[in-house]
Amino acid sequence: MTEAILLVGGQGTRLRPVTVNTPKPMVPAAGVPFLAHQIARAVAAGVDRVVLATCYLAEVFEPYFGDGSAYGITLEYVVEDEPLGTGGAIRNAAGRLSCGPDEPVLVFNGDILTGLDIRGLVATHRRADADVTLHLAQVDDPRAFGLVPTDADGRVTAFTEKPQAPEEIVTDQINAGAYVFRRSVIDMIPAGRAVSVERETFPGLLAEGARLHGKVENTYWLDLGRPEAFVRASADLVRGVVHSPAVPGRRGEVLVLPGAQVAEGAKLADGTVVGAGARIGAGAVVQGSVVLDGAVVGADAYVHDSLIGAGASVGSRARVCDAVIGDGARVGADNELRAGVRVWCGAELPDAALRFSSDRS
Ligand code: GDD
Ligand code: MG
Repeated sequence: MTEAILLVGGQGTRLRPVTVNTPKPMVPAAGVPFLAHQIARAVAAGVDRVVLATCYLAEVFEPYFGDGSAYGITLEYVVEDEPLGTGGAIRNAAGRLSCGPDEPVLVFNGDILTGLDIRGLVATHRRADADVTLHLAQVDDPRAFGLVPTDADGRVTAFTEKPQAPEEIVTDQINAGAYVFRRSVIDMIPAGRAVSVERETFPGLLAEGARLHGKVENTYWLDLGRPEAFVRASADLVRGVVHSPAVPGRRGEVLVLPGAQVAEGAKLADGTVVGAGARIGAGAVVQGSVVLDGAVVGADAYVHDSLIGAGASVGSRARVCDAVIGDGARVGADNELRAGVRVWCGAELPDAALRFSSDRS
């Protein structure tokens, strides 16, 4: 039996307002909650028991995923009343594991889309006889991540979470959010209080001389914590740039879910997904975007690289680029929204209220 813990309890702060009503792992990417892709990928790698470590909006997971039998696995839910941090969450979830002290346990951050070879990570862990094995990715700008330098044998030499000072940036290798733990190492994390695996557990293990092994694998890798990354991940799933067995329907350039209405003459492209009950008006162009259930894009509107929340509406001729529109928000006709704007859930923007152009339409 291969067991995994999925960390899905964070508040998804950087993704607001998308995460005001929905925890980050439950926001639909390519037509299903993002977590469905992670579970499906784990199942494909032979994982047969998954413990979900939930906290923020914990109650919405079980009604969707049930006992896991739809995936052919056992799913367990653990709820934290107060956030326990990543390490505390792992410790808390371990009560539902059934494996022995030397067995490997997979742990995944709940917001990573990756082509990682999960079986390969476990094999490396066994071969290295490690206490913890970490998937490492190499990125151009590592500052937003955990920095993990390794020696020539792959042994981790330090762990610096979100480095502040330039001299701390000693490597381009980052913690990619997938670990294999020796079960007994999880049981040594203190129980009943908040613990950061990145700031406390990993540095502590290194100081004690534990064997932490880093496996650099440069495959598709994206942290979905920010809106532009989330939207890109959904489009890449739709287009098959990264494979997930959970994408519904046939693979293609766009995904239109059953019950959506796309008017004749509307153009969808670049991995756009249109949710159930959503409507796209005549002459509208929607590229590389996520249109959630029941949302409306008006006639001749232009939407690209954006997320339109459930039940939200974008008026006729509006231009919405690199934007997030919260659930139920109403963007009137002829608005121009750009570059990182976040329209809060339920907000109403009158017609032609926001323009970058000097005319009104
Ligand atoms: N159950 C539970 N409880 N889960 C939590 C908690 C908690 O208190 N806090 C965070 N999580 C979950 C989040 O839901 C997410 O899936 C995961 O833990 C990581 O949290 P993020 O908030 O997304 O962390 P990050 O992206 O800033 O940094 C982490 O991921 C990077 C890779 O994307 C760190 O692990 C970095 O070291 C790493 O480089
Ligand atoms: Mg993250």
